[in-house]
Amino acid sequence: MSEFHVTRTLPEDAMAAALRADVLHGLTSDPKTLPPKWFYDARGSELFERITELPEYYPTRAELEILAGRATEIAAALPARTLVELGSGSSEKTRHLIDALPGLRTYVPVDVSDTALEQAGRTLVAERPKLNVQALIADFTTGLTLPRSPGPRLLAFLGGTIGNLLPGERAEFLAAMRALLSPGDALLLGTDLVKAEDVLVRAYDDAAGVTAAFNKNVLNVVNRELGADFDPDAFDHVALWDATNEWIEMRLRARTAQTVKVPALDLAVHFAAGEDLRTEVSAKFRKDRVGAELAATGLELERWWTDGEERFALSLSVVR
Ligand code: SAH
Ligand code: AVI
Repeated sequence: MSEFHVTRTLPEDAMAAALRADVLHGLTSDPKTLPPKWFYDARGSELFERITELPEYYPTRAELEILAGRATEIAAALPARTLVELGSGSSEKTRHLIDALPGLRTYVPVDVSDTALEQAGRTLVAERPKLNVQALIADFTTGLTLPRSPGPRLLAFLGGTIGNLLPGERAEFLAAMRALLSPGDALLLGTDLVKAEDVLVRAYDDAAGVTAAFNKNVLNVVNRELGADFDPDAFDHVALWDATNEWIEMRLRARTAQTVKVPALDLAVHFAAGEDLRTEVSAKFRKDRVGAELAATGLELERWWTDGEERFALSLSVVR
């Protein structure tokens, strides 16, 4: 019989303390910033799922094309008994990998979104009676401890979510992931690739306004959790391409001068008219940069698969 356990490695008060620290730091910085992990309450996770279906948002379809076409090759390169997935969300694309791994016993989805984990886990165990699902509510950037489970382990980080970390955070994160792996284990990494600016900007500024709602949702989270009085309608959604850093930036731009109160922090934050709050970077990669960043942590880029239009890549690094 299949099993489904959810473990909260991050106690709710630690999550709340982390949000307070991030909001205090980010809203008193110049320029103002908020980390993207706070988008994903129940509504944010739902909005993200709607983004994945937008005609402009190609990364999910491109990665799905690779996973559907290459799952058998990936499974042959790393016949995992445990699959750990960071930022697993709905686990929708992961099914291809799960079904291609004949020896797979344990799936460990890791996410900050408890609602996404619950929904994905219940669906998976109902459909796959032999799978043991041990979901972890955890922040993958802060000292992740994995449950004991049989090797070899495949650690998957899909969706291009690595691009939502800043370069310094990325280096730290990759070193921490390398430390979780033993010889015979592997890292499967999804990275969105550099492409024409108009295609990139459209993917983050869709005509239906779903990405704008997703972006503004972080203000709803701060309002609900910290009693703040952000008016989401007083901000415009902005997506722009930074050609130097090769990343998309999402921002919220104050329409007028305004002061926002954050009672839980005893804070009043002034926005000038037109002032931006950066809510996300989404870095786009080239093969040599992925290889160099993996090499810096002692991992070798062994396999590299792209979709037919070379929009997105999956890379595999086996620990020797
Ligand atoms: N992998 C899925 C979902 C990507 S959305 C896909 O490719 O479609 C990004 C996911 O990462 C969300 O489910 C979000 O809740 C999660 N996430 C973002 N930052 C996180 C963090 N620091 N720790 C754990 N999960 C995080
Ligand atoms: C989860 N992550 C890879 C998405 C991205 O494309 O950077 C989040 C997102 N932001 C806006 N649209 C989607």
